[in-house]
Amino acid sequence: MITDKIKHQIRSIVGPENALDSDLDRFGYSYDSSYVPLRPENRPDLVVRPLNVREVSSVMALASEHEIPVTPRGAASGRTGGSIPLRGGISLCLDRMTRIVELDEGNMMVTAEAGVRTIDLYNQCAAKGLFFPPDPASWKFSTIGGNVAENAGGMRAVKYGVTSNYVMGLEVVLADGTILKTGGKALKNVTGYDLKSLFTGSEGTLGIITQALLRLIPMPKKRGTLQVMFASLEDGCATVHRMLQAAIVPAAAEIMDRFSLEAVAKYRGTPLDPTAQACLVMEIDGDNDEALASQARQIQAVAEGCGALAFRVAQSQKESDELWAARRGLSSAVASLAPTRLGEDISVPRDAFPEVVRRIRAISEKYGLPIAVYGHAGDGNIHPSILCDLSNPAEEKRVHGAVDEIFAAALAVGGTLSGEHGIGITKQPYITQALGDAGIQTLIAVKKALDPKGILNPGKIW
Ligand code: LAC
Ligand code: ZN
Repeated sequence: MITDKIKHQIRSIVGPENALDSDLDRFGYSYDSSYVPLRPENRPDLVVRPLNVREVSSVMALASEHEIPVTPRGAASGRTGGSIPLRGGISLCLDRMTRIVELDEGNMMVTAEAGVRTIDLYNQCAAKGLFFPPDPASWKFSTIGGNVAENAGGMRAVKYGVTSNYVMGLEVVLADGTILKTGGKALKNVTGYDLKSLFTGSEGTLGIITQALLRLIPMPKKRGTLQVMFASLEDGCATVHRMLQAAIVPAAAEIMDRFSLEAVAKYRGTPLDPTAQACLVMEIDGDNDEALASQARQIQAVAEGCGALAFRVAQSQKESDELWAARRGLSSAVASLAPTRLGEDISVPRDAFPEVVRRIRAISEKYGLPIAVYGHAGDGNIHPSILCDLSNPAEEKRVHGAVDEIFAAALAVGGTLSGEHGIGITKQPYITQALGDAGIQTLIAVKKALDPKGILNPGKIW
């Protein structure tokens, strides 16, 4: 419970206009992009929007003193409920911390505050010929702090890796308000524990990430987009597998099954070839047009060897942008097909991708539930999305059975529960199965050491 006195103290730190407690504000900060049902008990008591690390530190010191739960929040684009304040308290929204503090062209690194939008960071670096590759589907509104907290992935992970591959250093406010700076611009650094990696992907449970130092790489000179249609999802999977075996590595290789294609066609009002059961959208990059053309020819040969129905190279930026907009909007398009959409995020070893897709197909048939399959085929991270109606109790039971089996399938082939969305609330029931007791006990030991009062994003991960 936050007393009026504490509210007053917080208002004097961040300014009265940045500490909100109207019913509407509290409602607005009680949900995110995870489709976790709205619940009145998930409303924060106070929404606090600090401007800088000093304000975050002062708010955390107060929260610690009074043992007030604090749930950090960026753009709330998370898919597992990470920014939902399960125990009320403070929703600490970092959306006003939007400064790009330094763009160090010499060392090819950028320092950005937590609230910088991913696409703004990308564009500012691109203007200097530098490339920040991690591109979650939500990059037009997701923020860097959230990306680091969830270790966000994205389309380009197949060639360029995920957020953690770019984090060089972090500024983090600890539970008691202490400001920690960890990591730095030295490329090699084994001085003590690798704390930046500990906080990356910690889902707001260990500290408040206020600033990130991120590595950049030179911007590829040319980019192209390819679209390949297939008569089966298996043919699309085989194409990705054979391409990678032949050392042809696209920047992105995204797969969509028939459901997903229908969802896009309906959502965007675009035509769809009735024979197409799956589609691959790929980004290729390189130094010049010839390098791109050569990659495209190689990919075409592999795809045709796997029975591709149609192969298309985007002929303009507009055409390419449209293909990627359709892919990035896919989650929303799929969600619009049914009253409930449970979007999963399993990640499997690359060569197990076709096998896990087969298993998901079988699960879909066994439970009589449509499961749209799409995702980052190039790195084995799939978003099987169960289309259902959870308000129907009979269906709910089947849905839980199907989800259990999807996770079991991922684990059986050596994969994991989440590739890029984190555990948050929605994947919690399965985490012990994935990590084992020793794994969970180690997480708890770290949590207790860094947040002894348990005020940071309580109720998440396990
Ligand atoms: C995507 C999000 C859901 O890949 O991760 O569309
Ligand atoms: Zn994704």
